[in-house]
Amino acid sequence: MAKKEWTKEERYRVLKDPEEIRDLYERITGTDYRQTYHIQPVTGLLNDPNGFVHHNGKWHLFYQWCPWGAVHGLKYWYHTVSTDLIHWENAGVCIKPDTEYDNKGAYSGSALLGKDAICLFYTGNHRDPDWTRKSYTCIVKLYDDGRKAKLPWPLFGPHPDYTEHQRDPKIIYNEAQDTYYIIIGAQTKDKRGCVILYKSRNLLDGWEFAGELKVPGFENFGDMWECPSIERISGRDVLIFCPQHLHLAGRGENTNHSGYILGTMDWDHLTFTPSGNFHVLDFGFDSYAAECAANIEDRDYAVVVAWMGLPDSAYPTDEEEWQGCLTMPRELTVRGRRLVQKPLADLVALRGEEIDPSMKVLPRACEVEILSRGGDLDLKLFARQDGSGGLSIHYDDEDKFVTVDRSGVEKRFNTQMGEIREHALENRLSHLRIYIDRSSVEIFVNNGDAVFSSRIFPTAEENSFVLSPNASMRIWKLERAVKEDFVI
Ligand code: FRU
Repeated sequence: MAKKEWTKEERYRVLKDPEEIRDLYERITGTDYRQTYHIQPVTGLLNDPNGFVHHNGKWHLFYQWCPWGAVHGLKYWYHTVSTDLIHWENAGVCIKPDTEYDNKGAYSGSALLGKDAICLFYTGNHRDPDWTRKSYTCIVKLYDDGRKAKLPWPLFGPHPDYTEHQRDPKIIYNEAQDTYYIIIGAQTKDKRGCVILYKSRNLLDGWEFAGELKVPGFENFGDMWECPSIERISGRDVLIFCPQHLHLAGRGENTNHSGYILGTMDWDHLTFTPSGNFHVLDFGFDSYAAECAANIEDRDYAVVVAWMGLPDSAYPTDEEEWQGCLTMPRELTVRGRRLVQKPLADLVALRGEEIDPSMKVLPRACEVEILSRGGDLDLKLFARQDGSGGLSIHYDDEDKFVTVDRSGVEKRFNTQMGEIREHALENRLSHLRIYIDRSSVEIFVNNGDAVFSSRIFPTAEENSFVLSPNASMRIWKLERAVKEDFVI
């Protein structure tokens, strides 16, 4: 199937009737690269996770959705729900771009519990007829009975001192000041990425501009900061954001990164004082726009999920007219000077039959555990039966370097972003836990010290592996956990 060329009219078409996409849904469900335990678009394209929140025993997670195909166009918030963060169900469209303020998309945002409903804060992406962009911060209330109510007016519009790039509201309650803050990713007129803040005593009105966040040492760090957030994790403050158009060592030609800085947040002076460098959250090829869940009482960790994809990228499923998925939700804590990401403990419930590694076959959805007996380690996943090709993972024990190389796979893609990712571990490699789904691989190193998440599109022949002899391996098939019902 040839890659489709899209006109602006096609990309920004309004979805009026679910029947308009039923045919697309039926064509893609059950195809080879559709995932089994990752959230993926019901049709079309998925990008950022949005509005992640826990309420009344349920997790709500939304994603940026363009219904029409593998293209960024008119964005909706699509709603998924879970009781355990592992099994997810489709709950239909939640935010539609149907007002003047969001006429060209309901862009990313976050959630917080209000008095009588979950409040979803998002960017109304407005375009004038001459295509000038104006961003509005808007609210939809989601009631327990499933009703939705969009406030007819935005909380505030674009700030005149910044460029048209102002978006992705993160709502934060500051207990000490009994004040709500909304932080917004923005770009200064001289093209520097930053965060601006608004504050109010009420969730639904009274919002005023509070200032630009000062982050000493990061005044010139990429030209736009998307999806910013300030989290408190394991008793530490963390600034999470996606600086754009920035070159970082070990990241190939990809210039869009999802990362964080540890530090101290002073809400009285709107200053985040870093205690270290910027680090990426994920060392793999495909990870962006990470979002932590709001309101998880009594836990000293955050739950984080990200888009397993990148802006400005093409994927092999584009020709099937769908693209994107989310990472598995993960547990996030601070260890020393780094964030540590671990698979959720309850994921063991997905384990099915254990496979004998001597068969040399990788099931399409499985968990792999590898224990190193020391020294260098070589692992190839998705190799052909004769051991050729595949995704290579190499660990060099002398400099503690992990290198992941995906140039050996048959379906190569996004090669302009580089085909190698590398990272120097703090400790020697002892352990790998790898989650494979039908078109992704998430490699957790040393119990969360580092994670490499990547999309991968193996052919039927690429179902084998090769492991150096100084390591042992176990493999479990994983059960399906994400339903694919046609709920619009
Ligand atoms: C990040 C992003 C956000 C924006 C959304 C639009 O991937 O560009 O800044 O709100 O995607 O879909």
